[in-house]
Amino acid sequence: MANAVELTAPNGVKYSQPTGLFINNNFVPAQSGQTLETISPSDEKVITNVACANADDIDVAVEAARAALKSLEWKGISTSARGLLLFRLADLVERDRAILATIDAWDVGKPYTVAFEEDLGEVIQVFRYYAGFADKQFGQTIDTTPEKFAYTRHEPIGVCGQIIPWNYPVMMAAWKLGPALACGNTVVLKAAEQTPLSVLYLASLIKEAGFPAGVVNIVNGLGRVAGAAMTGHLGIDKIAFTGSTVAGREIMKASAINLKSITLETGGKSPLIVFDDAELDQAIKWTHVGIMSNMGQVCTSTSRVYVQESVYSKFVDGLKDYVQTATVIGDPFAEKTSHGPQVSKIQFDKILKYIEIGKSEGATLVAGGKRHGEKGFFIEPTIFSDSNDSMTIAREEVFGPFVVISPFKTEEEAVTRANDTQYGLGAAVFTQNIAKAHRVSAEIEAGMVWINSSNDSHYGIPFGGYKQSGIGRELGSYALSAYSQVKAVHVNLGVRL
Ligand code: NAI
Ligand code: MG
Repeated sequence: MANAVELTAPNGVKYSQPTGLFINNNFVPAQSGQTLETISPSDEKVITNVACANADDIDVAVEAARAALKSLEWKGISTSARGLLLFRLADLVERDRAILATIDAWDVGKPYTVAFEEDLGEVIQVFRYYAGFADKQFGQTIDTTPEKFAYTRHEPIGVCGQIIPWNYPVMMAAWKLGPALACGNTVVLKAAEQTPLSVLYLASLIKEAGFPAGVVNIVNGLGRVAGAAMTGHLGIDKIAFTGSTVAGREIMKASAINLKSITLETGGKSPLIVFDDAELDQAIKWTHVGIMSNMGQVCTSTSRVYVQESVYSKFVDGLKDYVQTATVIGDPFAEKTSHGPQVSKIQFDKILKYIEIGKSEGATLVAGGKRHGEKGFFIEPTIFSDSNDSMTIAREEVFGPFVVISPFKTEEEAVTRANDTQYGLGAAVFTQNIAKAHRVSAEIEAGMVWINSSNDSHYGIPFGGYKQSGIGRELGSYALSAYSQVKAVHVNLGVRL
C-alpha cells in the first residue's frame, strides 16, 4: 500500500492525503498490511483506506516515542525552542487551514464554514496558546529552616498515549498535543476509526514544523485493538482519552497495569435551566447553539432543558420556531449549510432509536423526529417536550440533534433535577438575577457552568467533568498539570551528622 493518495474533495480541493501510520516522522504501512476504510457520511461513499495499527505497530510507535523522550534533539533543546516548534505548527495549520477544514467537512460531515472558522480557528489558537507556555512553566523554591530549602521541577510525564474521538478530530488532537508537547512529553496519538484523515494530514505538518522524529507518532486503528494495546502498554506513562463513558471505564481498568496517569473526558447529559426572569429570546438562541451545534455531537451539549413553568410554553414554541428557521440541513460544502449528517450509520441508527423511545415513552415530539433526505446520515433537529426525568430520553446521552424539555416550579427543584444524573460535564443557567445565577452555578455538580450562554468554550478556560463525565482537566493552564509531574529537590545547606 502506498503511504499517500492524491484526493479531490467534493469542493474541488486537491491535496495529498497521507494514509500510513506516522511513526518516527515517516508514514509507514501497518505491519499486518491491514487497512481501514473511511466514508463520507454525507453520501456514504468511501473516501479512501488508511493503515490500521495493531499491537505490533503500537510497540514500534511507543519505542519511537520512548527514544525521542531521551534524545538530545528533544530533551536537550531549550524550552523556548520547544515553544517555537508549536508556533511553527500553528503557522502551518493556518497556511493549510482550508485543506484541513475540507478534510473534516468530508470525513466527519461538518459544515465546511464551521470546520474552517470554529474548529481550525481553535486549533491554531490552541497551538499558539501552549507554545507560549513552553518557556513559562516554573517550579517553586521552598524555604524551610536556614539549613534546608527545596525547589520543584515540573518534568514531563513521559510517553503519553492520546486517544481521541471523531466529533472534532483535528481539534481534539490539538487539545491533547498542545499541552503534552509544551511540557516536553512525547506522544502516541490514536484517532477514531470513523475519522482517520485530518490527523494524518496534521502529522505531515508536525514533520514539516521540525519536530524531531518520534516526538509525535500518530496512528489509526480500532479502539479494541490499537486503543487497547496503548492502554495496556507498559511503555506508556499516561493516557488521555476523550470518548464514551463505557470506553473510559475500560481504559481506566487497563491503565491500572502500570498505574498510568489518566485524564478522561467522557459522556454527558448536561442540563440547561431557564428561569422566568431570563431574557427569553437569548435563552432560546443559546439553547439552539448548546444542543444543535456539530449536529449535537458534542460531549457538553446541553441536552436536558428545564424551563420555569410560567414561561414554559412560550419557550417551547420559540425554540421550535427558531430551530426550524435557523437550521439549514444539507451538503456540508454548501455555503449556507449549518447542519450536516451524523458521523456514521451507527450514530444515525442510535439517534433514530432514541426518537422511537421518546415517542413510546409519551414525550411530545415538537419538531424533527426523522431523517432528512434518502442518502447520508442526516437527521432533523429534534425536540421533545413534556419529558419527565424517569424517561430514558431524559437520562441517557443521545449524542445527536436531540433535546428534551420539561417544566419546573422552584429553583430548588431545578437544581435537584439538574443534578440527578450520573454525569457532570456542563450546565447552563439563564437568569437576569445575578445572585441566583451564581448561587445555582455553585450548586450544580458539573465541571463547567455557563451563565446566560451555552457551549461557548474557550481554550484558555479549563474543560472537564465531575462524576462520570471524567477525570482531570484539559485546556487553560490546568492542562499543564495533567502533562507534568512535580519533582521536589531537597537541598541540605548545613545539617551535618
Ligand atoms: P468510543 O468511546 O468507543 O470511541 C472514542 C475513541 O476511543 C476512539 O478512538 C476509539 O477507537 C477509542 N476506544 C474505544 N474503545 C476503546 C478501548 N477499549 N480502549 C482504548 N480505546 C478505545 O466512542 P464511539 O463508539 O465512537 O461513540 C459512542 C458514544 O460515545 C457516542 O454515542 C457518544 O455518546 C460518546 N462519545 C463521546 C464523545 C465525547 O466527546 N465525550 C466523543 C465521541 C463519542
Ligand atoms: Mg469518515
